[in-house]
Amino acid sequence: MTSQLATDTRETRLTRQRYDRIAPIYDALEWMMEWRARRWRRDLWSRVGTGRVLELGVGTGKNIRYYPEGRDVVAMDISERMLARARHRAERLSATVRLEVGDAQVLSYADASFDVVVATFLFCSVPDPVLGLTEAKRVLKPGGQLLLVEHVASQRPVLRRLMQWLDPIPLHIWGAHIDRDTVDNVRRAGFIDVADTNLSLDVVKRIEARALPTPANLSDTHDQHREGSP
Ligand SMILES: C[S@@+](CC[C@H](N)C(=O)[O-])C[C@H]1O[C@@H](n2cnc3c(N)ncnc32)[C@H](O)[C@@H]1O
Repeated sequence: MTSQLATDTRETRLTRQRYDRIAPIYDALEWMMEWRARRWRRDLWSRVGTGRVLELGVGTGKNIRYYPEGRDVVAMDISERMLARARHRAERLSATVRLEVGDAQVLSYADASFDVVVATFLFCSVPDPVLGLTEAKRVLKPGGQLLLVEHVASQRPVLRRLMQWLDPIPLHIWGAHIDRDTVDNVRRAGFIDVADTNLSLDVVKRIEARALPTPANLSDTHDQHREGSP
């Protein structure tokens, strides 16, 4: 099943175009980084609890080999070309995963329809990360689990300033910001029990959190972010 892309801001279109453009060489570009990332991915997926799992921004499907066996996983991405590579990978690994095109900022899934939402290196490139995280919270059941590995802005002043200064370069090449405060964004989206663990300096982090929305604040938060978005 293919979902509609409901957010079509200039930035969202640019992100999609950048990842479509880079898809054929994405895995080659990330080859060095993947040496370390493999361990982080395996560890993240070992933390996935029971129930339905949604992977946001699946990309070329690097996490597919770590999906818990025999589980109902839905995975989505904004870039058709990244997804095409994920589809090949899923076939090669004989993985059962439903791969769908969509926008993490406007998910097509029903409220409280997943037990776990997982994403790796996604919220650096979603144009409005708080909106995307608010959507993740909306589709999670009360008490549902959010599991992320993200690169974020360092808290060390010199490194932080350097990352802010260099940010336009990765943004232009593949649409990823290196100056985001994703732990703070997770809190701003209304998650609770937010815990972060440094994986590489304080720049790559595992972030774990829980959704505990009441039916009332669930739709309020959602509408506020929709109205505030470009
Ligand atoms: C840096 S890649 C990471 C891919 C994969 N998660 C991994 O760990 O290798 C970021 C991915 O997020 C996707 N993406 C960016 N913005 C998105 C959005 N608004 N909704 C869904 N996917 C998005 C991109 O198309 C790309 O595949």
